[in-house]
Amino acid sequence: MKDDSMYGPFRIGNLTVKNRLVRSATFEFGANDGRIGPKITELYRSLAAGGCGLIVSGQFAVSAGGRIAPVMVDAGGEDFVSDLRALTGVVHDNGSLFFVQLSHGGYRVPGLPGYDQLAVSATTAADGRVLHEATAGEIGGIVAAFGRAARQCKEGGADGVQIHAAHGYLISTFLSPFFNRRTDDYGGPIGNRSRILMEAYDEVRRGVGPDYPVSVKINFGDGVSPSITAGECLQVCQRLDERGIDMIEISSGVSPDGSGTSFSPFAREKAEGHFLDGAAMVAKAVKAPVVSVCGYRTPAFIERTLATTPVAAVSLCRPLIREPDLPNRWKTDRGEAACLSCNKCFKPTAGIVACGAL
Ligand SMILES: Cc1cc2nc3c(=O)[nH]c(=O)nc-3n(C[C@H](O)[C@H](O)[C@H](O)COP(=O)(O)O)c2cc1C
Repeated sequence: MKDDSMYGPFRIGNLTVKNRLVRSATFEFGANDGRIGPKITELYRSLAAGGCGLIVSGQFAVSAGGRIAPVMVDAGGEDFVSDLRALTGVVHDNGSLFFVQLSHGGYRVPGLPGYDQLAVSATTAADGRVLHEATAGEIGGIVAAFGRAARQCKEGGADGVQIHAAHGYLISTFLSPFFNRRTDDYGGPIGNRSRILMEAYDEVRRGVGPDYPVSVKINFGDGVSPSITAGECLQVCQRLDERGIDMIEISSGVSPDGSGTSFSPFAREKAEGHFLDGAAMVAKAVKAPVVSVCGYRTPAFIERTLATTPVAAVSLCRPLIREPDLPNRWKTDRGEAACLSCNKCFKPTAGIVACGAL
């Protein structure tokens, strides 16, 4: 049976999102040495024109040293506010809302001068770089950078921000016992492992004020052993909820050595909605709207998900790389997304993310 639940609105804090199809954060591979350029603006124009209610940017670094490549946007940069203002203007003119995803790359930053060579615990990266355990002072600096970058996002006209706490980037590696072997206040029980996330959230909130939408993307499971447990993820989400988080997006997976994709190991387990059970569990336990990501490919499955589970919306990444107009297309043509989930989009062409199967 067809229903139109995909095209009904949902709320994030004070915002009304026009439909329940969210574009999940997707690294653009398109910045010009940390700055938003015309290719990134065009990418978001086409996504907004394609009908997504809310677009979450690819991960933008909170500081130049936290980027995972020179082609990542630096949300702490001097020109960021004016660059972002131009970008958000284009997105709004085309009918979508825009959140910026804020991240620090952790062990996945490159070994280039000026990039932070640190990790949650001392380790040797896949490329041989020796990374030291982040000191309390360095953690404080990164937390402050989250707050500063979030303020810049608000000033630049973004409708909200998302803290990236998934997929093995810095905050995710603190949450995960696979990476976190610290013996100080940031390691051990989940209350300690989530300390940096709570501090980043509090700093972001201080920077943007009580009414500005702040969200998080977080792993329900890491796909490695040991992993954050379901109970630990629920606990972290409930603590963020009590603090006033406005939206929670549930994902899963890490890439243990920084190669390959973080979410793919799970992708064979289910045809669609790979992490839906976790998202539904969190949605039952918190007040904030919960968004479920990974593997959504058909209107029928999405509508069933929205009708039968407590998740507020679903988010898509790879299908929108291939078909930026998919939300509009589904209004008349309900055929499956053309995305093959082949992950060739991780090899960008022409300096911007693109479908590698075309
Ligand atoms: C090319 C590419 C870039 C991605 N970049 C990000 C990112 O910057 N931040 C993030 O949270 N997830 C990122 N992801 C993961 C997606 O947001 C999403 O969680 C994953 O692709 C599963 O959803 P899908 O089946 O709709 O593609 C990326 C995925 C791809 C394929």
